[in-house]
Amino acid sequence: METIVSGIRPTGNLHLGNHFGAIRNFLKLQEDNDCYFFIADYHSLTTHPKPQDLHGNVKRVLVHYLAAGLDPDKATLYVQSQLPETAELYLLLNMNAYLGELQRVASFKEKARQQPDNINVGLLTYPTLMTADVIIHRATKVPVGKDQQQHLEMARNFVNRFNRMYEVDFFPEPFAYNFGEDLIKIPGLDGSTKMGKSEGEANAIYFVEDPKVIRKKIMRAVTDSGPTEMNQTKPQYIENLFNLLRVMSSPDTVEYFDDQYNKCEIRYGDLKKQLAEDVIKFVTPYREKIEALWNDEAYLQKVVKQGTEKAHASASKTMNELRKIIGFLPF
Ligand code: TYM
Repeated sequence: METIVSGIRPTGNLHLGNHFGAIRNFLKLQEDNDCYFFIADYHSLTTHPKPQDLHGNVKRVLVHYLAAGLDPDKATLYVQSQLPETAELYLLLNMNAYLGELQRVASFKEKARQQPDNINVGLLTYPTLMTADVIIHRATKVPVGKDQQQHLEMARNFVNRFNRMYEVDFFPEPFAYNFGEDLIKIPGLDGSTKMGKSEGEANAIYFVEDPKVIRKKIMRAVTDSGPTEMNQTKPQYIENLFNLLRVMSSPDTVEYFDDQYNKCEIRYGDLKKQLAEDVIKFVTPYREKIEALWNDEAYLQKVVKQGTEKAHASASKTMNELRKIIGFLPF
């Protein structure tokens, strides 16, 4: 049994990328591990959400977690800001994190490009907060998508530096985890290599979306006039569609369209129709559960209360030991 931690930012509805990069693995891991899955609302403040939107977005992630099948009796589900020990650990880690290394993180550079008028220190120290989330429970495995890999490398640097500095073996090294396979990156529908919320509406497929909208989005996905040579290498945007087909459809379906492509006989319309139907089949029960859970406030409250208590027990144990290591001694 290992300790597992992961989280998702509450910035809107969840999409297929969130599921296949993260939640699918949460479901498998909850069966025989000590799992902590939280909603990263502190992290979401880097983009300055409106106060009136924040709670709904937190609830949205919680409801997706439950609809996907996370079991609050197996995994600990909580909201990051209700575990303020995380913020204390973040402060302590920041004393030992260097400006240069934080400035070199790819996600920081990307965000700084995306929001040049709001390059706040929260963006810069995003990896130290993420490290705090993970090591507050002294976790070793972190199920995440490919885009989070560098953050886990930073987490190992911070952990090793801390242990060295205080001459302890207190925090274990955490690793991004996908059952020994490469980390997942689900592509977008607009030809970009990543499905994501910040890439525009046409890029991502959300679980709560109406089948009609899903069909329309997929039918509009970027393609071309088709291959002209046998066994031609697929351009990125076509490879993206095949990658989506690989996660959503049966191996026979993938093989069929691959074959058609290689023979220059592919009809992208047929591929897209098949993909749309398979996506709809997958998201429909999920969407129905989300709708059913949405108004069950009493149940949601119970889940969060139970999760917060368990998370608090684990976090306060870490912090009590940590304070001693640092030299904060009680009078
Ligand atoms: P966030 O909210 O951007 O994404 C949540 C999870 O979904 C994965 N993901 C994807 N995986 C594959 N393909 C995609 N297109 C795709 N889009 C998103 C992400 O990799 C992630 O696993 N920093 C984190 C939240 C966080 C966290 C943590 C995670 C905060 N503290 C501690 C793990 C441990 C984030 O912004 O994820």
